[in-house]
Amino acid sequence: MLVVSGSSCKHIAEDMAQILGCEHHSLEARRFPDSEGYFRVPESSIQKIRSSTVVLVSNTFPDTCIIETLMLLEAINDVKEGRLADIRGKGIDCEPTKSGLYLAIPYFGYSRQDKRFNQGEAISARSIGMLLSTKCDGITVLDLHAPEVLESLPTKVTFSSSMSEIAEYLQEEINPDFILSPDKGAIERASYVAKKIDCKFSYLEKTRIDAHNIVHKAKNLDVNGAVVTIVDDMISTGGTICRASEALREQGAKAVYAACSHGLFTGGAISKLDKYVDGVVASDSLKNPRSVVSSAFALCRGIEELIND
Ligand code: R5P
Repeated sequence: MLVVSGSSCKHIAEDMAQILGCEHHSLEARRFPDSEGYFRVPESSIQKIRSSTVVLVSNTFPDTCIIETLMLLEAINDVKEGRLADIRGKGIDCEPTKSGLYLAIPYFGYSRQDKRFNQGEAISARSIGMLLSTKCDGITVLDLHAPEVLESLPTKVTFSSSMSEIAEYLQEEINPDFILSPDKGAIERASYVAKKIDCKFSYLEKTRIDAHNIVHKAKNLDVNGAVVTIVDDMISTGGTICRASEALREQGAKAVYAACSHGLFTGGAISKLDKYVDGVVASDSLKNPRSVVSSAFALCRGIEELIND
């Protein structure tokens, strides 16, 4: 096996290669002055890519990474198929190989556009999934917002989760006695964490007014004197966590932490969160200042599930 990466996930790909006991190769991914991308399998990786089952680790966020992921898959497929001839006459076409190509996506951008909420909208998550699935033998996605959207793609998809590692981290470093899901969508993830560290659990019901404003339905939570961690799949503006933290503090919570897989932390979210919570824990699916949990173990489990199937 060989783990490869472009510009978005080298740190995770290196960790995955170590866990899987194989090599990691960096693929060329850089920008032209007009911002278009240039993608290439370096000559030194061609034979290894042809002879190995390859795992590409790549995000689909930001938008430039969607193109990068597609183009890297394309380049790897060309190499595996033996399409190596170039206009300089240096490369020569050769026989195709049968070795597999898998994609590990730490953060799947557009995951929240998983339905047609209003007529005329593109179901972006599914469209991107469809494009990627034409270019590989299987995909694993880490903590996808709503897995249903990728469930019936033409290629096999496994859903990996770093909630196990997040739970271990919380238990060791924070030792919460209450886990809160800030909305119904995070119940499965958050209740898994609560079960794993054996503490109380509840959830809030959230209504999103717009990208920056949400409201929670009032609910009595048994959190007086408790150390609470709010667990979600992602933190973007931080609005969801800040409002949930307010509700928890009003009801007597002693300390409030937030944990998520995907730390997007857009538009000053970190400084906003610092005013509302005692700490934030995120995985390294996206490079961010609160990344303390490795997503590599979960992605390796997802890849093993794909390959062993
Ligand atoms: C949406 O349902 C997600 O699970 C998150 O709760 C949401 O994306 C967080 O966004 P923000 O940090 O902007 O409130």
